[in-house]
Amino acid sequence: MDRWQTIIEPFRIHAVEPIRLTTEAERERALEAAGWNLFNLHADDVLIDLLTDSGTGAMSRDQWAAIQHGDESYAGSPSWYVFLEAVQELFPFRHVIPTHQGRAAEKILFTAVGGPGRIVPNNTHFDTTRANVEFTGAEALDLVIPEGRQPALIHPFKGNMDVAALERLLTERGDLVPIVVVTITNNSGGGQPVSLENLRAVRAVCDRFAKPLFLDGCRFAENAWFIKQREPGQQDRPVVDIVREIGSLADGMTMSAKKDALVNIGGWLALNDDGLAEQCRNLLILTEGFPTYGGLAGRDLEAMAQGLREVVDEDYLRYRIRSTAYLGDALVQAGIPCVQPFGGHAVYLDARALLAHIPPLEYPGQSLAVELYRAGGIRGVEIGTVMFGLHPDGTETEAPMDLVRLAIPRRTYTQSHIDYVIEVARDVVSRASSLRGYRIVRQPAQLRHFTATFEPLG
Ligand code: F0G
Repeated sequence: MDRWQTIIEPFRIHAVEPIRLTTEAERERALEAAGWNLFNLHADDVLIDLLTDSGTGAMSRDQWAAIQHGDESYAGSPSWYVFLEAVQELFPFRHVIPTHQGRAAEKILFTAVGGPGRIVPNNTHFDTTRANVEFTGAEALDLVIPEGRQPALIHPFKGNMDVAALERLLTERGDLVPIVVVTITNNSGGGQPVSLENLRAVRAVCDRFAKPLFLDGCRFAENAWFIKQREPGQQDRPVVDIVREIGSLADGMTMSAKKDALVNIGGWLALNDDGLAEQCRNLLILTEGFPTYGGLAGRDLEAMAQGLREVVDEDYLRYRIRSTAYLGDALVQAGIPCVQPFGGHAVYLDARALLAHIPPLEYPGQSLAVELYRAGGIRGVEIGTVMFGLHPDGTETEAPMDLVRLAIPRRTYTQSHIDYVIEVARDVVSRASSLRGYRIVRQPAQLRHFTATFEPLG
């Protein structure tokens, strides 16, 4: 097997979805109509959509078959029990609470444990996690290791939590900390994994201070694969075992099933504490639904259960992680600085380094993202000054980095699609010095990247 270099998709295509080729002139018009904001495009004007890996993957034959087994009983559906068993097979938490997606689980958990004056540490909060912590009046604190903040630095586990910083926080202000969270993989830090050794060390600190440890488990299987590849002593271990150990180190988790449960919608909150679980179930009933379906249909629960069985398949994970690195390697070869090593679900292009002639407040990430679309119909997402530069008091500063994320939907695009992305990126790089910055024409007060409109600078 390892003798061959070509990455093959470990599946055949069973149903096809047409994608529409557009001309550069059509894309130019689409950009103008969208105010140069890629979120405003009609998705059928996009050829290769790398906006997110969330809910955009392809389900398998067996998942579509499982959908036919969906039982839509309001309470106690057999589909609920199938789902429960599949989750507990990997993560044996006592209580599993289904939700319609990850942020619904976060909203419930942080409503229960957050509140003014509290502090929630995480390696790096994903935006919705941060927003849900802050919405309760609590502070969201990022404690990733310093290596995790340097895009070009190679380190096998850049998602690791800074254990000494966590210890300091718990020593000095531990009474304000309701739970500790670790995000696997660390999405906001570039999709970087967390090692077992680090998780064990975080667990030990949590034990010493009697704090519950929660996982934000969105990409748990990708994280386990990195552990198998990179962590000493883990090479011969089945991924399923590594996943179970990860779960056994925590007291609970939030999950967006739109990532590593290989479905288009779904999520859960799982935990061991009986009292907290009861409180969370009551909140669930208020906004999501009865505890045996959450915000989901019975058929969604069946699809998640089957997805969880498929995502720990090692042929799948090898292909998944290798194919992301394939894109990253080619982009670096083409002269685009990228966050390294490559994460599991996405490649992050360093637009500030590539377009050094565009000042951060003229949005180099936006410029690169727009150009990838204009040239080849490829949609990525700016993660930089547009996303993070505007502050609640209305002032604007440059973000720490100006990146463009190309996220890879699971089992959706073939190697030739990715080869096309590489060809387009090469063309854009060859014209990099002619790219211009942007000016914001209209923007809302918060989360401006979703709806702001832009204008190219002359
Ligand atoms: N946590 C992490 C680490 C995530 O990456 C996401 C979603 C969520 C929580 C929220 O889950 O979308 O199901 O409510 N990330 C997507 C992305 C949106 O594009 O990275 P959700």
